[in-house]
Amino acid sequence: MRLIVTGGAGYIGSHIVCELNARTEHEVVVVDSMEKGSEVNLFPKNEFIKGDIADDAILRKVFSKNVDAVFHFAAWKGAGESMLLPEKYSINNLNGTLKLLTAMSENNCKNFIFSSSAAVYGAPVYLPIDEKHPLNQENYYGYTKVAIEENLKWYDKLKGIKYAALRYFNAAGYDTKGRIRGLERTPANLLPIIMETASGMRESFEIFGEDYETPDGTCIRDYIHVSDLALAHLLSLDYIVANQSSITINLGSENGYSVKEITSMAETVVGRSIPHKIGPRRPGDPAKLLASSAKARELLNWKPVFSDSKTLIESMRNVYPRG
Ligand code: UFG
Repeated sequence: MRLIVTGGAGYIGSHIVCELNARTEHEVVVVDSMEKGSEVNLFPKNEFIKGDIADDAILRKVFSKNVDAVFHFAAWKGAGESMLLPEKYSINNLNGTLKLLTAMSENNCKNFIFSSSAAVYGAPVYLPIDEKHPLNQENYYGYTKVAIEENLKWYDKLKGIKYAALRYFNAAGYDTKGRIRGLERTPANLLPIIMETASGMRESFEIFGEDYETPDGTCIRDYIHVSDLALAHLLSLDYIVANQSSITINLGSENGYSVKEITSMAETVVGRSIPHKIGPRRPGDPAKLLASSAKARELLNWKPVFSDSKTLIESMRNVYPRG
């Protein structure tokens, strides 16, 4: 098969390319604008097309040869930023994806793996969150994911494009074999921020609130290792090809860690305290998020193996400079 990975030089996309290279014989082509992607995340064996998926010339180049499936990661992912700059998200996340789907349809490409998010659910009505949970997204970023999922249903019905919409919980960690080393620039998520602090790249970090209704007062999240995510993507492609049917599934570890638990495990892994202070709550943060990944376990026979806090943080320790 000839596979396209958009955003394949980025954090999650590069881990998918890495697993595809290691576990399959497929030809994998990376398409990335390099606005967020890193050169160091590219593998010499993969063809690389530099450009934007919303650019017609780039789409013509991508589809100039037969494409069997597209893995789509080229999107902005700042939930907070999406509330300030919604146009950036509508142009890239919505318009870019629709152009890509249209090019697939015109070129008879029938398989699409979509990087969706637990942001589609918003504040939880019940826990753990399964795929039947109401969709009450609280930011424009989450809305773009829902809007694309809705379009995928239509492209399936009208154009026969089968899709896997994969709703990630809190993606974290790095390839445990050290094959991916590109650090995210200006990360906004807890774990890279803690690791940057441990590395001396920033002086300290802030814990956003310790008065939540959780055992230690800090927010609980479901962290999922990016290599566990990667395997689920490979299994999803196999599933939609074999069954000729689309799926929408959660990808989480079903394990919750509080901000303080993550901080204290990071301090254990690096062997010293990591400077931080307690700050006010961040608006829009629910106290606890936890996935039910029963559907992924049943349909894909998928089970996370790297998503305990120690493995997550040790795998990041390998790529961050030792300050
Ligand atoms: N946090 C801090 N300090 C920081 C950064 C984060 O205390 O400097 C806390 C947050 O308040 C939250 C937890 O760490 O309680 C995790 O925060 P992240 O920003 O890393 O992640 P979120 O849970 O807010 O959101 C992430 C992705 C979303 C996705 C969601 C799904 O960024 O895109 O997980 O669960 F939708």
